[in-house]
Amino acid sequence: MSAYFVTSTGTDIGKTFVTAGLIRYLREAGQAVQALKPVVSGYDSSVVETSDPAVLLKALGRPVSADEIGSIAPWRFRAPLSPDIAAAREGRSVDFDQLVAFSRKAVGDNTGMLFIEGIGGIMVPLDARHTVLDWMAALQIPLLLVVGGYLGAISHTLTALDVLTQRQLKIAAIVVSERDGDTVELADTVATMARFSRGIEVIGLPRLPGGINQHPAFAQIAALL
Ligand SMILES: Nc1ncnc2c1ncn2[C@@H]1O[C@H](COP(=O)(O)OP(=O)(O)O)[C@@H](O)[C@H]1O
Ligand SMILES: [Mg+2]
Repeated sequence: MSAYFVTSTGTDIGKTFVTAGLIRYLREAGQAVQALKPVVSGYDSSVVETSDPAVLLKALGRPVSADEIGSIAPWRFRAPLSPDIAAAREGRSVDFDQLVAFSRKAVGDNTGMLFIEGIGGIMVPLDARHTVLDWMAALQIPLLLVVGGYLGAISHTLTALDVLTQRQLKIAAIVVSERDGDTVELADTVATMARFSRGIEVIGLPRLPGGINQHPAFAQIAALL
């Protein structure tokens, strides 16, 4: 049994994209795999298909039904804001202890590979006192750190690495997921990050054409898990 927490330097970087690609790769290789996206903000129940839980369910080959979404993403909020603020808009809150218990149970029950996608970056607030960092520290499972290839991403990544290292979190790999509009060569970003990553492997995933998430980089990442 192995479980990984997929985190990032920010929102819209590629956590879901990379997780879905890995799920597809592992399933094709015959491995049992599960995924959770416990906390979702910006969740519009009239446009479910493009939501993170739906993308993950499709990669898992599971139906995108209300039950299935509820089972992998119990904390869903309408506003596209940090979970503490999005929840407050609905007069709700994320119960941190329940979130940790939910995640721990999934880690304990799982018999194959499990990915838990966080939300936003490593220090997004979940409630008035806890951030994603506290959630990851409570779980003590290795991280997959997905970062961008944009100008500025190197500093964002090294800042994140410093914070994660201070909290003694283990990082299995750093994935640089290239996006449209990145003005820096992916190979240059990967090489520079690797010089500062304290031995953690840095893998570049080029921007892939719409609808495709197959690439040899997924095999490279999977080999590190
Ligand atoms: N390597 C890539 N190639 C093509 N599209 C990508 C890549 N990485 C991310 N994207 C796209 O960028 C957007 C944001 O990625 P997403 O995985 O949803 O970010 P996050 O989960 O970190 O918020 C999505 O539309 C996703 O499909
Ligand atoms: Mg996501």
